[in-house]
Amino acid sequence: MSFRLVVLVSGSGTNLQALLDATASAAFGARVVAVGADRHGIEGLARAERAGVQTFVEQVSDYANRDEWDAALAARIAEHRPDLVVSAGFMKILGPRVLAAFPVVNTHPALLPAFPGAHAVRDALAYGVRLTGCTVHLVDAGVDTGPVIAQEAVAVREGDDEQTLHERIKTVERGLLVEVVGRMAREGWAVTGRTVRIGRTDESGGAGRTGPEESFQQCQEPGGTTR
Ligand code: GRF
Repeated sequence: MSFRLVVLVSGSGTNLQALLDATASAAFGARVVAVGADRHGIEGLARAERAGVQTFVEQVSDYANRDEWDAALAARIAEHRPDLVVSAGFMKILGPRVLAAFPVVNTHPALLPAFPGAHAVRDALAYGVRLTGCTVHLVDAGVDTGPVIAQEAVAVREGDDEQTLHERIKTVERGLLVEVVGRMAREGWAVTGRTVRIGRTDESGGAGRTGPEESFQQCQEPGGTTR
């Protein structure tokens, strides 16, 4: 099981926990090799420690500017040689050095491109939508603007407040994140424009599962980005 995940967290880390639980099975095809955070004392770091996973913290306030923080975070992540970085409730915008060095997926508690940013659930409720959900997407330089990999809808219920709705979204979000990360690890992925295709591309252009001998190969498409 050689596919290596570094997970970045800022808070309670329930998405991280879902990944830790899933990766306990070798069949998942990936393992969490380190957990990074932008702050100390959070439950996400405690979850990693309980699971025996290495942790690191890089705080923006410890650096003269964002650029230095970005370089330090990229270096810390690189120590763990990840195949994929997972931003799972990491409440900082990643900088160009991190994004140039590693593929990064993020999970977001809304159906992007609706309600990007740090208050997605609050914003969706304030808008009055009846349907919201979660999005797992590749991270680019924008705020929640990267290519969508997968989405799942969650209905807003009468009487929902930010907390009740967010908890229901998170239940769905954890399952979606685990499913997407597992498939990326086992099958590889290719990006063409804004389309992310998981699985080996066959001659007809469709995506298919790779055989076991190719489990950790990733895909390439003409004109696409290979990760
Ligand atoms: C998730 O809903 C994530 O999308 C958002 O913050 C929440 C993190 O939850 N950015 P947890 O820390 O994984 O419990």
